[in-house]
Amino acid sequence: MARQATVDGEWWRAAVAYQIYPRSFADSNGDGVGDLPGIIDHLDHLAGRPDSLGVDAIWLSPIYPSPGLDGGYDVADHAGVDPLFGTMADFDRLVGEAHRRGLKVLLDLVLNHTSDRHAWFQESRRSRDNPRADWYVWHDPAGWSRRRPVPPNNWLSFFGGSAWEWEPARGQFYLHTFLPQQPDVNWREPAAAEAQLAMVRGWLARGVDGFRLDVFNALLKDPELRSNPRRWQLSRRPWDRQWHVYDKDRPDFPALIARFRAVVDEAPGRMSVGELFAGDLSQAAAYTNGHHLVFDFGLLERPWSAEAIGREIDRREAAFGPDRWPAVVLSNHDRSRHVSRFLRDLGRDDEATADRVARAAAVLLLTLRGTPFLYYGEELGLPDIRVARVAIMDPPARRAGFFFPWWNRDQCRSPMPWAAGPGAGFTNGRPWLPLSPDHDRRNVASEAADPGSVQNAYRRLLAVRRGSAALERGSFTRLATGSRDVLAYERRSGAERAVVAINFALEPRDLTPPAGSWSVRYSTNEPDGAAVAPFGPGSRRLAGLEAVILANAESASR
Ligand code: GLC
Repeated sequence: MARQATVDGEWWRAAVAYQIYPRSFADSNGDGVGDLPGIIDHLDHLAGRPDSLGVDAIWLSPIYPSPGLDGGYDVADHAGVDPLFGTMADFDRLVGEAHRRGLKVLLDLVLNHTSDRHAWFQESRRSRDNPRADWYVWHDPAGWSRRRPVPPNNWLSFFGGSAWEWEPARGQFYLHTFLPQQPDVNWREPAAAEAQLAMVRGWLARGVDGFRLDVFNALLKDPELRSNPRRWQLSRRPWDRQWHVYDKDRPDFPALIARFRAVVDEAPGRMSVGELFAGDLSQAAAYTNGHHLVFDFGLLERPWSAEAIGREIDRREAAFGPDRWPAVVLSNHDRSRHVSRFLRDLGRDDEATADRVARAAAVLLLTLRGTPFLYYGEELGLPDIRVARVAIMDPPARRAGFFFPWWNRDQCRSPMPWAAGPGAGFTNGRPWLPLSPDHDRRNVASEAADPGSVQNAYRRLLAVRRGSAALERGSFTRLATGSRDVLAYERRSGAERAVVAINFALEPRDLTPPAGSWSVRYSTNEPDGAAVAPFGPGSRRLAGLEAVILANAESASR
């Protein structure tokens, strides 16, 4: 099988990854917070059985010991497991159970910063001459004004305010691109860099299959700490009124990432994907290389519009070219869930439209060229939850306020609903965030029993994708459709061709496929439609929000 050939080496090209936010996936001990045994209990949902979703890898958002001021992205010990989530033995069991089901396990590496509770920082902050004194970015004040120290430069925290925090014990400032409790590691200090890479080797030795790298393009800063130039931009966020040229994306960064990747390559068949932080498409493409994927968020930032998404895809294809492999993502733990965003674009808030747009968006996500990353719950069509301002749990959102682009990330982190009833099968206790109000209907068990559910649409679609080299690894060509509401493209691998067409409108639109003989491999509107149905000559009507995958005769007879 074509798929088999990619299983070792570059398995991740054809793979579908699934992001788990561990706090919100499944709680095994009733404390209201998800944990590793909970994940193990639910691996069958993802892979290994005929009725599993059928994904290839899981990415776990941070599981390390952490004070939890940034949902675990404030790491107090990169080499451990937070007791909130379980033990290292649970982790080893999780890796074993995942592998038994053919699932790879990806960890989230937060290499840019640590928690201020990390032992390295505790030591570093004590004095200017301790063994770890230079493991973080420290600097003298630029001067004093009214008896207060002045920060070394104009850099800002992405979460609001100055990026510099004063440490009286050293009489110096330290840098924090995020919360003051998240000091930035100094990657220019060889011992600090070595210690981080040793930690990476430790996880590889435990059998981890790869990593997602948090804000990876920020790892290196300007060694001279020059101030960022002013950017004339009408924005209420001071962050947007600077060009971030000195606090990230330094010219020597690609060499550092190559060094990191060489460590990953010491263990064969592992993958890595970098999270592009506040960067543009050309940077994402430039940092992508044969081995290393990069998330750019262009698609995630576009509205539900065939034209807008089509343009973004064109830009992406041009930037990446045929040789670089993109990552595709519509939702994650930082942004409003895509069903909710797209419903807002459509001016609708009813459940039926939510299901339809979720199914159509799934076709986009799973058939574009690149490795798709699903976000837990999207396979149910899970919407954002509403969390009142006073009830916000996410400290960065509280600090950054309403103009923060990731305002209130609690909205996209609600517990996974597994079944109807109190606790939704997520917990026997009180969930750490509210459950989605429609969890009695929109949950894994109910959707499994409903052939027309979003979950079953994902399952069928993933199966179609798995059977198709064109969809998994084929070339990409956009097709003209003659309609502003229909996006269409062709994927091709050898003689196998697949045409994908998505109607973004609520009303029907005509579709004229390219010349040839086509059959419908998949339609969002036919619950058992994986069967190969003929596609009549000329044009066919696509129902509102319908998406189809057509296959040519050669592929149909495979
Ligand atoms: C990344 C994470 C986000 C976190 C930030 C700082 O962008 O996705 O959740 O707050 O890094 O670590």
